[in-house]
Amino acid sequence: WHFFSVVLPLGAINPNIQTSTATLLLQLVAQGQLDMEGALTARDRVGIQDFVLLDETTEAAFLSNLKKRFSKDLIYTYIGTLLVSVNPYKELDIYNKKQMDIYMGVNFFELPPHIYALADNAYHTMLTEFNNHFILISGESGAGKTEASKKILQYYAVSCPSTTLLNTVRDKMLMSNPVLEAFGNAKTLKNDNSSRFGKYMDIQFDGQGDAVGGHILNYLLEKSRVVHQNHGERNFHIFYQLVEGGSDDLLHQLGLERGCQHYNYLTQGQCAIVQSINDKNDWKTVKNALQIINFDETVIASVLHLGNVRFDSDSKGHALLNNNTELHWVSNLLGVDAHRLQEGLTFRKIEAKKDQVLSPFTTDHAIYARDALAKAIYGQTFTWLVNRINESMENKDPSRKTVIGLLDIYGFEVFYVNSFEQFCINYCNEKLQQLFIELTLKSEQEEYEAEGIEWEPVQFFNNKIICDLIEEKHRGIISLLDEECLRPGDATDLTFLERLEEKMGNHPHFVTHKLADKMTRKTLERGDFRLLHYAGEVTYCVVGFLDKNNDLLYRNIKDLMCQSKNDIVKECFSSMDPDSRRRPETVVTQFKSSLQKLTEILMAKEAWYIRCLKSNESKQSGQFDEALIRHQVKYLGLMEHLRVRRAGFAYRRKYDVFLKRYKPLCPATWPHWRGVAADGVEVLVQHLGYLPDEYKMGRTKIFIRHPRTLFATEDAYEKCKHELGEWQRENTENRKKLVNIESCWRGTQARKEKEKRAWAVKVIKKFIKGYMTRGQAKNTDNSEYLAFVRQNYLNRLRDNLPKTVLDKTTWLTPPAVLTETSEMLRKLHYRLMVRKYVRGITPQKKAQFQMKLITSSIFKGKKDSYPQSVAHPFADNINPRVIQMIRNERIKYCVPVIKYDRNGFKPRQRQLILTQTAVYVIEEAKIKQRVDDSNTTFIWLFQGDLVVQCDHLFELLTKLCVIANKQNAIKVVQGSINFEIQAGKGGAVDFSTGPEPMVYKAKNGHLMVVSWALSLLSHVSVQTGYHFFFSDYI
Ligand SMILES: Nc1ncnc2c1ncn2[C@@H]1O[C@H](COP(=O)(O)OP(=O)(O)O)[C@@H](O)[C@H]1O
Ligand SMILES: [Mg+2]
Repeated sequence: WHFFSVVLPLGAINPNIQTSTATLLLQLVAQGQLDMEGALTARDRVGIQDFVLLDETTEAAFLSNLKKRFSKDLIYTYIGTLLVSVNPYKELDIYNKKQMDIYMGVNFFELPPHIYALADNAYHTMLTEFNNHFILISGESGAGKTEASKKILQYYAVSCPSTTLLNTVRDKMLMSNPVLEAFGNAKTLKNDNSSRFGKYMDIQFDGQGDAVGGHILNYLLEKSRVVHQNHGERNFHIFYQLVEGGSDDLLHQLGLERGCQHYNYLTQGQCAIVQSINDKNDWKTVKNALQIINFDETVIASVLHLGNVRFDSDSKGHALLNNNTELHWVSNLLGVDAHRLQEGLTFRKIEAKKDQVLSPFTTDHAIYARDALAKAIYGQTFTWLVNRINESMENKDPSRKTVIGLLDIYGFEVFYVNSFEQFCINYCNEKLQQLFIELTLKSEQEEYEAEGIEWEPVQFFNNKIICDLIEEKHRGIISLLDEECLRPGDATDLTFLERLEEKMGNHPHFVTHKLADKMTRKTLERGDFRLLHYAGEVTYCVVGFLDKNNDLLYRNIKDLMCQSKNDIVKECFSSMDPDSRRRPETVVTQFKSSLQKLTEILMAKEAWYIRCLKSNESKQSGQFDEALIRHQVKYLGLMEHLRVRRAGFAYRRKYDVFLKRYKPLCPATWPHWRGVAADGVEVLVQHLGYLPDEYKMGRTKIFIRHPRTLFATEDAYEKCKHELGEWQRENTENRKKLVNIESCWRGTQARKEKEKRAWAVKVIKKFIKGYMTRGQAKNTDNSEYLAFVRQNYLNRLRDNLPKTVLDKTTWLTPPAVLTETSEMLRKLHYRLMVRKYVRGITPQKKAQFQMKLITSSIFKGKKDSYPQSVAHPFADNINPRVIQMIRNERIKYCVPVIKYDRNGFKPRQRQLILTQTAVYVIEEAKIKQRVDDSNTTFIWLFQGDLVVQCDHLFELLTKLCVIANKQNAIKVVQGSINFEIQAGKGGAVDFSTGPEPMVYKAKNGHLMVVSWALSLLSHVSVQTGYHFFFSDYI
């Protein structure tokens, strides 16, 4: 208790059964119902409630703890999550409603060990993880398995949420128990209520945890008990219940007499009346349950009557059955023809080709046939009952459900004489032990290995060798038994034994009289074989093995039953084996495959274990038979299990599952962890302060060593979950408020929008009116419109003003109201541009313009080609080579020209240079001519007329005039030009038009200048003593 003093309620997952233990306990204490100190705490001071916490893991310590607890009626102890239960053989006051309430929704280790804790834990794990579980209850016959399964069922019936609808399912589930016990349980030497069939029951739950359905699988009923019981044993309870408890009327109706002593089938064991069993009372319960499923007792009665059918024998030893009242009762109750029944019990029908031959039975044979019929009737009825119960519990809703399976199967048993049934039962227990090993010891160790967790292997006995000995294909005992059963010829139980000896000769777990050494041989009869089971040696007597395995029912009897007027009988036998021509599978083979299926069913679920121990052989309370218990502890492998649990970790979970559950506990993992789950878990446990030796990180799982670490985490989670819930609730309220605010806000917005639209309508109306009256003088209708138009125009104008003075087209057309303004603005803008331009020009440029102005005054209106020259700026260029030649005079201007010779007008490339005092015509390399005239301030000029062609006529002449300061000296003349070189000796220049401009000497000796257009043929002559002719023909 003190180990787990930190714990708080774990469960509380299902809100319907949410009960905080703490509050519950406090309530109970307050009500005086429970003295916490006394009732709970003190109990757990007795020994240790989880073997994992034992100081030493020795068998002695184990047994001592078990004994200590048992002596104080503490029958439950844990090994981790496995529950060990010791049969107290007395009623304990630990299964009441109060106890159930205490365990509901409480952390597994929080309260003293109890079967309710395990049931509750399985239930809640199923709900949280939404997966299937099963509880494997094992232990030898009489150890308390059936009681345990009943306790679990009762717990679920009380603890699961209920509705009236579900109650019916639940009632049927609970009701199924007494019925199946009445028909399937019997008193044996081991147990007064021994299950003689195996039962696996699925309880189906929906997502809310309601028990909504159930299903039962039954395994091999020990039918031989119907016709034969060993000394000290009884037939199935139902028979005794009927003859002891049935009303006089009923018995009369069925032709039965009160008292078991009247019936052969009930008295062989000579113990029909047992102290511990109250058949009368039990009958009341069973009768009610049987009524619900419409079962009538005739079938049971017919079996009792059958048992009393006696055969006489004739002189040949053939069975005779004449006018037998019992036979009539049987035919009556079963609804079959009495004569045919008699025939079926005393003759065998042999089909030879098309003929049918009746062959009489000996009395022994007849008894065999009778018993076979009794067994068949009973066996089939049992199956019918299970089917009926299943139908009533079936849930047809297709939505997904989770299940908890309860396996309560006959326990390992050893009698003085053991037969086929014990062989099957013990084989079944071997298989379950195998499953347990698979699921716990082996898988536990394998898991550590697979997860890379350091681990010291624990040795355990693997009973696979025995399972193989029994069930291996072609070589196992089952295969050999089947072979003998199916073999034509004289196969007997003894030939079967011989075959076993042949095949199993030196198997370490198999011995017979023949194979045994001297010592052992003394303990074996000749017809025995002995198996060394995991739970101990069992000596089987082979007598009856073949018959029981064949379980044959004569064909004519079977056919007769199929024609029964009793519905149940008819249904039972018709469904027996649909393909009557094929030989049915032997009993043991059917059993083997049903166990195989069971294993598969179980392997697909998560397992919980209850290991039941029998405290003594004499069914006495308070007796702790140490040797007996030590033996069970040993063969059940509890020590190995403990060692594995102790060496290992109490809890493990896949990283993603762990993270998903506990992520709200760490800010870094809540609400989402983006990385790998394992890293998230590491961050999480670091945050929670796990110490390094408290956990290990496997490949896919986290392993937590102590339960307390997990509980602390779980508690934190519960608290956090609660807070999250609070937060969520607050959040919902806040959301509501938020919605209110939002709707207010939206309302305001909408009203604003409405106002805006109304305003817009007004504005648009006014705009349209203004547009329509725009031509009128300013009035109230159009004033705003006009203002808008004005502003709009000015704004547009601002963005679209002409960029240069020369651009005369881009000016925006103004609206009528702005015509005048627009014109004023236009002028202003152009003046501004001019101003900007003028301010922007350089002194050089200015000088150039001034030159141009002079050119204009000389040529404007006088020379046709002048306007074309205006756009071309003056080149003002001075050839640097020329500068070298005229060093002592400043060159004012320099231009390339073509000079025509005076004689013959030969063109020559020359440079013409102006200085302040002279004009030079030079070749590139040297000064050719210097024309000097000291009489004039002007540069004049040449020695004789000079004919020069220049491309920059206006520029050259303007420069010439400026330098000479003689602007009037230039004369523009039309027509031919005559010039004199010397007195009486001259020449002429003629002008004409042509397709190609050219200059050449014409035939008349004149210089001919051809130009494109005649209008260009105006010439310039400079009025000096000399002609200075320039052509502008290009
Ligand atoms: N928890 C228990 N409390 C009281 N008596 C028990 C308990 N478990 C078993 N017994 C007694 O032991 C008997 C045999 O138990 P049962 O469950 O039938 O054994 P099994 O099914 O393992 O053969 C029961 O009839 C009952 O008298
Ligand atoms: Mg049982």
